[in-house]
Amino acid sequence: MITLKNVSKVYPNSVVALKSINLTINTGEFVFVTGASGSGKSTLLKLLMKEEEATSGKIRVFGSDLISMKKKKIPFYRRTMGIVFQDFRIIRSMTVFQNVELAMRVVGASSRAIRKRVPYVLSLFSMEDKADRYPGELSGGEQQRIGLARALANNPNLIIADEPTGNIDPELSYEIMSLLAQINKMGTTVLVVTHDMSVASKFDFRTIEINKGSISCDTSSSKSNVNVQSFLNSQKIL
Ligand SMILES: Nc1ncnc2c1ncn2[C@@H]1O[C@H](COP(=O)(O)OP(=O)(O)O)[C@@H](O)[C@H]1O
Ligand SMILES: [Mg+2]
Repeated sequence: MITLKNVSKVYPNSVVALKSINLTINTGEFVFVTGASGSGKSTLLKLLMKEEEATSGKIRVFGSDLISMKKKKIPFYRRTMGIVFQDFRIIRSMTVFQNVELAMRVVGASSRAIRKRVPYVLSLFSMEDKADRYPGELSGGEQQRIGLARALANNPNLIIADEPTGNIDPELSYEIMSLLAQINKMGTTVLVVTHDMSVASKFDFRTIEINKGSISCDTSSSKSNVNVQSFLNSQKIL
């Protein structure tokens, strides 16, 4: 579970990026974060990745207290999350296998673990047959899959993606959201920033809108009612 209590972020230049945010994201949820440019979406993700420090408030992510976390613990904390970059940051001189392998090497995984895990994550995206190809030999959609496979390489609790569809056409945007939905189905919590509601609205996921540093809309309230209803139905209480 992720909880933010009265979290504010004021940058050194006095820009107030987030204003007293209160937010709970349950384990296994898929959440879209939307809002105009400059509204504070990336800042929210950076606080969760501990790339930026909150100015005030409390943040807990899967049992870790981010406010009191010691500096030397940060790299270990980051290993528990899979980050999907906007430009995917694929290394073109490396094969598909090596791109995913690299993510595991940097956290000190053994060769044995790599031999087992890399084919597995590639197979989740039907990429196992392309393990020895170079990114330049693949379609745009296949290259995205490398980025997603890499984010999953270290079996993260949380996948964070900041505008993963920022530079791509609607068809590929839909595909990447579908792949993220597939990752979520396997149990991973997914947080996706997007300004592209035309794609996000095709999915029935919780959507949080940020407006000038405050949460202006959160669809979870209506959703949770639906869940309560179906729970009560399933228990034959109604
Ligand atoms: N490192 C920074 N230093 C100063 N101001 C920043 C920094 N990063 C972001 N901001 C400002 O904080 C506000 C929110 O930015 P950001 O979180 O990047 O918004 P979004 O991702 O929604 O476009 C903006 O006014 C932006 O200019
Ligand atoms: Mg941003």
